[in-house]
Amino acid sequence: MKLFLDTANLQEIKEAASWGILDGVTTNPTLCARENMPFETLIKEICQVVSGPVSVECISTRAEDIVAEARKLNSLAPNLAIKIPVTLEGLKATRILSSEGIRVNMTLVFSPSQALLAAKAGAAFVSPFIGRLDDISHHGMELVEQIVTIYENYNFETEIIVASVRHPGHVVEAALIGAHIATVPFSVMEKLVKHPLTDLGIEKFLQDWKKVAAK
Ligand code: G3P
Repeated sequence: MKLFLDTANLQEIKEAASWGILDGVTTNPTLCARENMPFETLIKEICQVVSGPVSVECISTRAEDIVAEARKLNSLAPNLAIKIPVTLEGLKATRILSSEGIRVNMTLVFSPSQALLAAKAGAAFVSPFIGRLDDISHHGMELVEQIVTIYENYNFETEIIVASVRHPGHVVEAALIGAHIATVPFSVMEKLVKHPLTDLGIEKFLQDWKKVAAK
C-alpha cells in the first residue's frame, strides 16, 4: 500500500520523506492557502522533494478551461497529477487529458457511481473522501469497499486514494480493504508508528541494559 501525505507544507513533506516511507503528496486549494509561498514556486519545490506523484487541483469548472489549466499545471514538473472534481465537465476534461498522458486524480468523490465514471474517463487516481462522509454520519469506508469491488470486477487500472483521513484506523481499514493508497495529514502519519507498549518496552530495555553494562 502506498502512503501519500495530504499537505502543502514543505517542512512536513521533507520530514516525512526522511522517514523513507513517503510515496507521494496530495494538495488542494485549502491546503495551499495555508502556505506563505507563491503557488507555482511551492508546487515546484514539493515536486523536487518527492519523486512520487504530487496532486495539484484545478479550479476551473468548464471542460475547456479545466483542460487548459491542467496542461499548464502539468508543465510545472514531471511528477504531477492533476486533481479535477468529479462533475460532467470534469469527466469531459479527464477523457481529453488522460488521452494526452496527463495523470488525472478525480476528487471530491462521494459515491460509487462517481468512481465508476472516473475510471471510465481514464482517471489515473480516484479520491473518495472518507472523513467527510463519516462527518455526516455515513460510513465512509463502505464507499471504499464498493469502489474496490467495482474496479476489481472490470479490471480498471485507476488507483484508489483514500482521502479525508482522520485517524490511523482509517489507514488500517483502507489497507485491509485493499485500497491502493491512503493520503494522510502529517499528524496521522506520525501516529501510525506510535504505540504506548513500544515506548514502555524501550524504556524497560534501556533500564535493564544499564544493569548489563554495569557487570
Ligand atoms: O485533500 C483532500 C482531502 O484529503 C481533504 O480532507 O480533511 O479536508 O476532509 P479533509
